[in-house]
Order: sequence, then C-alpha cells, then structure tokens
Amino acid sequence: MSLSHGFPKVYKRIFGVFFAMPGKIITLDENDIPKEWYNILPDLPKPLAPPIDPSTKQPVDPAKLERIFAKELIKQELSPDRWIPIPNEVRDVYRIWRPTPLIRAERLEKALNTPARIYYKWEGVSPPGSHKPNTAVAQAYYNAKQGIERLTTETGAGQWGSALSFACNLFGIKCSVYMVRISYNQKPARRMLMHAWGAEVVPSPSDKTNFGKSLLQKDPNHPGSLGIAISEALEDTVTHDNTRYSLGSVLNHVLMHQTVQGLEAKKQLEMVDEYPDVVAGCVGGGSSFSGLFWPFYYDVTAKKAPKDVKFIATEPTACPTMTKGVYTYDFGDTAKMTPLLPMHTLGSDFVPPPIHAGGLRYHGDAPTLCLLLKEGKIEPRAYDQVSVFDAAVFFARTEGFLPGPEPSHTIKYVIDEARRCKETGEKKVILFNLCGHGHFDLTAYEEYFAGRLQPWHYPEEEIKKSLDNLRKELPWVPEVAKQFLS
Ligand SMILES: Cc1ncc(COP(=O)(O)O)c(C=O)c1O
Repeated sequence: MSLSHGFPKVYKRIFGVFFAMPGKIITLDENDIPKEWYNILPDLPKPLAPPIDPSTKQPVDPAKLERIFAKELIKQELSPDRWIPIPNEVRDVYRIWRPTPLIRAERLEKALNTPARIYYKWEGVSPPGSHKPNTAVAQAYYNAKQGIERLTTETGAGQWGSALSFACNLFGIKCSVYMVRISYNQKPARRMLMHAWGAEVVPSPSDKTNFGKSLLQKDPNHPGSLGIAISEALEDTVTHDNTRYSLGSVLNHVLMHQTVQGLEAKKQLEMVDEYPDVVAGCVGGGSSFSGLFWPFYYDVTAKKAPKDVKFIATEPTACPTMTKGVYTYDFGDTAKMTPLLPMHTLGSDFVPPPIHAGGLRYHGDAPTLCLLLKEGKIEPRAYDQVSVFDAAVFFARTEGFLPGPEPSHTIKYVIDEARRCKETGEKKVILFNLCGHGHFDLTAYEEYFAGRLQPWHYPEEEIKKSLDNLRKELPWVPEVAKQFLS
C-alpha cells in the first residue's frame, strides 16, 4: 500500500514534498483485496420484482433453480444480507491479478486540455483480459464445492467463455462453452485461449442440442446469437447429470461478485484524496458497470458520500436496451427456457446488428440495473460504433492501452464529458471502468482503419417486430407486470 494511506490530508501535503505521492498508478497491497462482496438488494429504492415462472405466472420457486445453478449461488441471488464473505479459496485465486490498478489518465486529460481529473479501473490485467473472472472464479468454486463435474455456458465475443474456462481449470471441473457461431469463425484466437485452459468450445447453433439442430435445419449457416447460445447451454445442462449452468452477467450474484472493483477503487481514490463526481461504465448485461458503481451507490444511500455522484451507463445505438427498451417481463434467452425477468428489453427475438462490441449485443439488462434506471438513479447514453472506435484510438494514442470495443463506449462518454468540462471550467472527478483490453479485437480495429466499419443506428423496425412478438406470445405479461412492476 502507498505511504500516504491513512495520513491526514495536511501531513500528506507536507510529506508530499519529500516523498513521491501516488501519481499515475494507484496500487494496493494483496491484503487489500476485499474480504466481502457488497450486495445491493437491501439498498434498492424498491424491493426487486421476482423472476416469474411462465408456466404458473407466479414467482419462480427457488428450489426449481437448483437443477440449473449451484445452491450457494441461488442463496446469494436472493440474499437480503448487505455484505457476503468472500471465501479464502476465491481470494487466493484473485491474488493472481488483484488488486487491479487504478490509473489517472493524465495524458488523456492533457490531450483534451480539460480541468477534469479522469481515473480508470484497469481490469484488462486479468489472465483472460477482462473483469469477467471476478465472478467466474467464485462460480466455479461454489460448483466444485458442491461436487458438480461440468459447467456449461454461452459466450459472444469470447471474453466470458475464456473467463469461465480459466476458472474451471483452476478448480478441476470441466467446462463446455457454446460460442456464437459468427464469433467462433471470426475469432479463432479467443477459441484457442479457451482450449488452452482445457474447455470444450462448440459453435452455436450446434448439432449437440435439439434447439441447435432445429435452427441448423432451417439455415445450415445460421450466424447464431447470445440468446440462442444461452438456450443451448441450458438444454445441455438439464439433459446431463452433474452439470450446471453459469451466467456471466445479469443475475444479482454475478453483479455482486464484481463489486471487488468498486470496493478497491474507493480505497484507491481515498489514497489520493479524491471522490468521484461521475462513475461511468458500459452495459451489456450490467456486471462491469454495477461492479464499479454499486459501492459508491452504497455511500450515497448510507449518506456517506461527500458529494452528489452521477452514475452513467453507456451502450451501443445498435442494441439500445436502456435508451429504447421497454420495461416489462421478458425471457433471458431465445428458446424461452429461462424464467421471465423484469428488465428493459428489446424483445428476446431481437438479433442485434453485428457490431464489434460482442459483449454488448444482448436484448435485456440486469433486473437490478433496470430498476435503478427506472427510478432515475442512473443515466444511460448510447453511441454508434464508429464514434466509439474514434474514442478508442484517441485513448490508445494518449494512454497507451488498446481498449476493448465494449469499454470504448464509456471512453466516448468520458471524452465528451471532459470536453464539456473544458467549456464550463468544472474540475469534475470522473471514474470509469476500463473493463477489458482489445488484443483479441484487432480485426475490428482493422475494419475501422480501413473505413469499413458501419455506424449501425437504432434498428427501430426490427425492435418493433420483436416486441410485437413478445406481446402476441405472452398476452398476459402486462397483467403480471402491473402486479409486480408498478
Ligand atoms: C470486456 C467486456 N466488457 C463488457 C462486457 C459486457 O458485459 P457486462 O455488462 O456484464 O459487463 C463484456 C461482455 O462480454 C465484456 O467482455
């Protein structure tokens, strides 16, 4: 830990003349890895609406979920406890890459000539290259402890699949990853990484499941989607003994595991006497953003925050769940196997345009995030992928790191906001989540440099069609939504 940690401000000023004060990179000691995760459920502005079983139109019986998820994870999903202890075995694995650095983006600030102070939490240092192993390790641990032999999952661009492959390998369980076929073909390097950690990787739709076979019969070159891959992983789970399913976002327990980021960032900012005016992150399902902002949200609700904090969530215009989605109940997957979740949705049939931010191509969002959005606690912003890559390259040319396309949506916001601060003279402290590197996204950068990248705006007609389907298929949903969501 830095010399200055815990020193009163005045001493830091005096001794700062003699000692180098924390500058660009703010690091913590491994003993500072959080010992508890923060659970937002008791601090939400309203109780979270329950998932609904479409066969009964009533809240899901948690016992039914035991065929899908490890018991301890179901317990965490519903827990009213604010703090959940992190097992030593999980903290021990976190030590491979945590605590992650908090970095002051001085060069970016200088290039923008802004009075804003910009900090980013750098999660790209994990072995798979993103924030995803923060939950993958916990999920693999609880499944292994229960004696589960194999986990199934889906992956889009490959970040989540590689994180779970990495984690399962460490806890000695098998891992089967259904990878969206278009990414499977376009991103062989991610596939190799999963193989290196011993996972089985299947292009989805596949001939391993009935649902996959039915889609391949209609179109042997089906490109797949995240919703389809989830359906296949679920079918594989329920048709094989001693197998469970693992999800990389959306659910409460997944987001909670990610709070190690925000808890560390709070400590790191404290070391340099800062507190954010803005906390920003990108949203596919909502885990990286929630992992960073929840601990600051806790400060706000507990009246411990020294100032007002804005929470900004970014997304693609091609898949605008937060800015254009409808707040209702919808399925989490395309084959409609999951319970109905309360969320902002574009309709579970919606297949987003093939933007390069594969991790943001999901038709819904985490129920907790959607509730906070509905209650006005977070503000969404949507950007097209060309402006996002402009921002990503600007960042790489100032700060050095090549960002993944997903967090580059947030970089676009941060650059705009820092420019606005230049105009107004505001010295805002902006904290954002750089939740993954772009080393496996180089073909996307190649397209950008060749000028072949399409901006993809709001696919209004497609979304309308998908939402109409939802209304036709489940005409009773508005009634249930009225009961549980109003
Ligand atoms: C680097 C990266 N960032 C963000 C996301 C989006 O997911 P979430 O909103 O759960 O953080 C993904 C998903 O795969 C990802 O790989």
